[in-house]
Amino acid sequence: MQQNKEIDQFDIPLAKRTHLNNSNSISIKKLLIFSPFLFLFFSFVALQLIRNTEPRPSSNFNFQNEKNLDHRILGHLPYNEIPKEKLVLIEPNIEVHIDMRDSLLMMRNEAKRDGIYLVFLSGYRSINLQNDIFYSLKSIRNQEAAERARVSAPPGYSEHSTGFAIDLGDATQRETDFETEFENTDAFRWLKKNAAKFHFKLSFDKNNKYIDYEPWHWRYEGSIDALKIFETSNREP
Ligand code: DAL
Ligand code: ZN
Repeated sequence: MQQNKEIDQFDIPLAKRTHLNNSNSISIKKLLIFSPFLFLFFSFVALQLIRNTEPRPSSNFNFQNEKNLDHRILGHLPYNEIPKEKLVLIEPNIEVHIDMRDSLLMMRNEAKRDGIYLVFLSGYRSINLQNDIFYSLKSIRNQEAAERARVSAPPGYSEHSTGFAIDLGDATQRETDFETEFENTDAFRWLKKNAAKFHFKLSFDKNNKYIDYEPWHWRYEGSIDALKIFETSNREP
């Protein structure tokens, strides 16, 4: 075949053969002229391909769980308000998340068997109520927001709005309600020893750098829903 091709070339009249050679050299010239454009075109296509293969966050990316993007305000993490249908009244003025009720009541009974009388001081608080607690008292006490936030969460940032937080007191020492001195009560000592059996955890311990120590404030972590809600808090330094 190769041989035939070479022979065929000799069959082409000389004038045409010359013309053929000329057109080849024109094509090479054209190629040289257009090569920068071709280079740009292929570079652009390659760039698009690289961009499309880079990993991107999915649409349900959970920013709340990202350490540097956890949307804290004055050291407090954001919390949604519990849906109303999940709230249960356990005694006058005390509502909690239905998933936490049994464990909380069992803990109080167990404490009672040991001679410890726990008092429920505050459970679920709506974001509206938290708004009053934060801003009304801030105004009455003439406090700046950062100072107020050391003892109270801004509205939308309280664990109490999730229904999974409970403030506890000692029935035999009511003067320690909401006071640091609660840590010296039998109730607190009992809680430190036993609360984890009922899946309760102290939320604001002495190591918290934003919020003052609250020995009375406990949160429930006995369900996956609750653990998800407090995941960022559990990862904080
Ligand atoms: N006292 C706690 C921080 C709250 O207001 O939720
Ligand atoms: Zn509390």
